[in-house]
Amino acid sequence: MDGTKFRRAIARSRLAPVAAFPKRFLRVARHDARVLNVSARWLFTSREHHNYTYDLTRLSREHLAWFVSVTCEVPVKQVRAYLDEIEHDDTLRQHIERATAAADRRGLADRRVRYARRIGWYAIVRATRPGHVVETGVDKGLGTCVIASALLRNAAEGAPGRVTSLDINPEAGYLAKAEPWATVVDLVIGDSIASIKALDRPVDLFLHDSNHSTGHERREFQTVEPKLAPGARLLTDNVTVTNVLAEHAEKTGRRFLAYRETPARHWYPGDGIGLAW
Ligand SMILES: C[S@@+](CC[C@H](N)C(=O)[O-])C[C@H]1O[C@@H](n2cnc3c(N)ncnc32)[C@H](O)[C@@H]1O
Repeated sequence: MDGTKFRRAIARSRLAPVAAFPKRFLRVARHDARVLNVSARWLFTSREHHNYTYDLTRLSREHLAWFVSVTCEVPVKQVRAYLDEIEHDDTLRQHIERATAAADRRGLADRRVRYARRIGWYAIVRATRPGHVVETGVDKGLGTCVIASALLRNAAEGAPGRVTSLDINPEAGYLAKAEPWATVVDLVIGDSIASIKALDRPVDLFLHDSNHSTGHERREFQTVEPKLAPGARLLTDNVTVTNVLAEHAEKTGRRFLAYRETPARHWYPGDGIGLAW
């Protein structure tokens, strides 16, 4: 029996799983060793304990550019230029580095500034030029700064806008309290549902990134619905965990698309952006 015939005979027999075991074991061991290596390095080099920051892989960044291009109906070349813009905004980067180094929570924050999927939020704001953005969930204010930065660029091109950022924690948003970013940010402290009910201007772009339980996310989208301007876009940061925004889109006659990010050199599997329009 030649080699090929022998292998086929084994593949048909009960011995097949035993024969394939070493190859399967090596594959999974190589994968797990890579994850362990990245995890160990992160444990000793990062200080973050939640809301992790990282860069995206090149492929994930490119997929993000196409996601924004399709959902916001702008050429992908234009979106890539927006992504370059935020990544090369040295004024914002230096502000975040300095403010992080001086903050009370500096012991739990990394010095290096990495925006992950927030560069997509930036590109969406640049592409759609909203007059009023609402962001629920602020934490340090990294996303708020990114959104404010896009709004300032829009204003310089004749399309001004503001972001209302809602958080239940009175200490949230310290990165977004410096000028020029603070000039377009309204920080509101309180439960997001009550704060959404109190909004007194139509919302062009809404981003859910607060309490990520299914019930709270659903309540936010239901509560903001009567506050939306015609053609408003809805974003969720929770799209890898729940199907809330997709269900809301179906109920309200919108389209929906999800992007899943891939962090570079990080153990965390990543989050994503869900967009309904
Ligand atoms: C994931 S963090 C937000 C991250 C932020 N958008 C960013 O770009 O880094 C979640 C935030 O939601 C806030 N939060 C939790 N429950 C909330 C609620 N019911 N209303 C408003 N904010 C809430 C937390 O205090 C926390 O700061």
